[in-house]
Amino acid sequence: MTTADDEAAQWWATAISHIEPGSIELRDRPVQELIGSVGLVDVIWLLLRGGLPSARETALLEAALVAGVDHGPQAPSIAAARMAATCGVGLNNAIATGVNMLGDSHGGAGQQCVEMLTEVCNRRQMAGSWDEAAREVMAEWQSHSPYLPGFGHRFHPVDPRRDPLIALVHQAVADGIVAGEYLSAALAVEEALRLRRTGARPVPMNIDGATAVIYAELGFPAPLARGLFVLSRSVGLLAHAWEESGQGRRNKGPIPRSVMPARLTT
Ligand SMILES: CC(C)(COP(=O)(O)OP(=O)(O)OC[C@H]1O[C@@H](n2cnc3c(N)ncnc32)[C@H](O)[C@@H]1OP(=O)(O)O)[C@@H](O)C(=O)NCCC(=O)NCCS
Repeated sequence: MTTADDEAAQWWATAISHIEPGSIELRDRPVQELIGSVGLVDVIWLLLRGGLPSARETALLEAALVAGVDHGPQAPSIAAARMAATCGVGLNNAIATGVNMLGDSHGGAGQQCVEMLTEVCNRRQMAGSWDEAAREVMAEWQSHSPYLPGFGHRFHPVDPRRDPLIALVHQAVADGIVAGEYLSAALAVEEALRLRRTGARPVPMNIDGATAVIYAELGFPAPLARGLFVLSRSVGLLAHAWEESGQGRRNKGPIPRSVMPARLTT
């Protein structure tokens, strides 16, 4: 090998995959050993972290991925993908359009939620209780914005995905699968919000918050909470873009032209 060959090999050095003629290894495992014996959720874990999860870890991760898959055309990401699908851009661009809507207030809040819950966990010892740690961290976060990531929902008074996800985490804690620190932190923030908003519209944990608890309990760093949500929502984006592209509409707008105010159509 020349120095240039070495440099070129180093440029793309990766621990994730090793490809040679006739050989594909993912995290040092030949792909032919994975095909047929390992599920997609396990492979997501394998590629992101190396090693395979236990069956219970897989089940918890899968529950989070299932929960985020779709929220119908009410969700900006899904609506945008469906509109894109009618513009002649192809499925890949329709999915990317939806993915690019997953930001700090829609589907991407899990990243900041993990960061906030991590601060609560770190503060807990000094503060003396989960409740006090939550109050302190909330005050700091709310000095920048009243909206705490992972709480509240535009549409649901209580996000129907919250309870089953949190119940699974409780069970995993009881069985010693995860430690439960992030769960305690999230419940403390939720309770503090509840007490503070007595009589006002409640803002319980939403999908981004509940899945953030799972991702953090499983040891995924904060940015991957957003990355994993993107993977999950991509399934719904594909399904919606595909359905919409079969309906024959061209250049679908946000509302039907028939109900558009006259001043916008003239
Ligand atoms: C999702 C979200 C945009 C929905 O907002 P919304 O229902 O339109 O809420 P509004 O802006 O009308 O706020 C209503 C009240 O609830 C409060 N509130 C809403 N979400 C809150 C949150 N996450 N933390 C604290 N307070 C919140 C508002 O401050 C407001 O209080 P007020 O009545 O005293 O003025 C909002 O809850 C939010 O930004 N959450 C954080 C980001 C997030 O988790 N996104 C993922 C959503 S699935």
